[in-house]
Amino acid sequence: MLFFIDTANVEEIKEAQSLGILSGVTTNPSLVAKENVSFHDRLREITAIVSGSVSAEVISLKAEEMIDEGKELAEIAPNITVKVPMTPDGLKAVKALTDLGIKTNVTLIFNANQALLAARAGATYVSPFVGRLDDIGQNGMELISTISQMFDIHGIESQIIAASIRHPMHVTEAALHGAHIATIPFNVINQLCKHPLTDQGIEKFLADWNNRIQ
Ligand code: E4P
Repeated sequence: MLFFIDTANVEEIKEAQSLGILSGVTTNPSLVAKENVSFHDRLREITAIVSGSVSAEVISLKAEEMIDEGKELAEIAPNITVKVPMTPDGLKAVKALTDLGIKTNVTLIFNANQALLAARAGATYVSPFVGRLDDIGQNGMELISTISQMFDIHGIESQIIAASIRHPMHVTEAALHGAHIATIPFNVINQLCKHPLTDQGIEKFLADWNNRIQ
């Protein structure tokens, strides 16, 4: 499973990139709005830092407008993936953008049929939102597992991005349930690195080293 970061914040992206583990970035309108910057300028900055897929979401809801918006976004950099919401118009836009050779990420997926439809429309990535399902008492990881089995049975190549990740256990489980990618907020990436025994171990090793017989 690959790691994407789920943010539009450049400092967070640079820091995650410097760890050597980053394969891509996902943004959404809420994340970009927090940054208070021009969307296109921010995408230019991000695509200059990260060579992997950078998902940029359309705002329009009508297929024709999504397609125009998607084409504009895709012109910003070759590694832009156009993120489209899971609606009938979104599917039409995915088909049209795919036919133009533009990569797409179908977002806001909450059941397996939505993922199958997105894949059949040509989506490069499908993004089931595990955290938001857990929030309403449904099992987000079961959805990852179901989509993974379904895609395997039918030889579907669309990649599953486990999205709406809230904590480190989501990351472990996403990997075990067959997600190809997890898109993870910066605070959770930081949590992944940490274990109290690692910190205690470093402290003890350094104390022993400093007390060595010279
Ligand atoms: C995915 O691409 C979305 O940007 C994201 O994971 C949404 O997560 P949230 O439910 O924490 O807003």
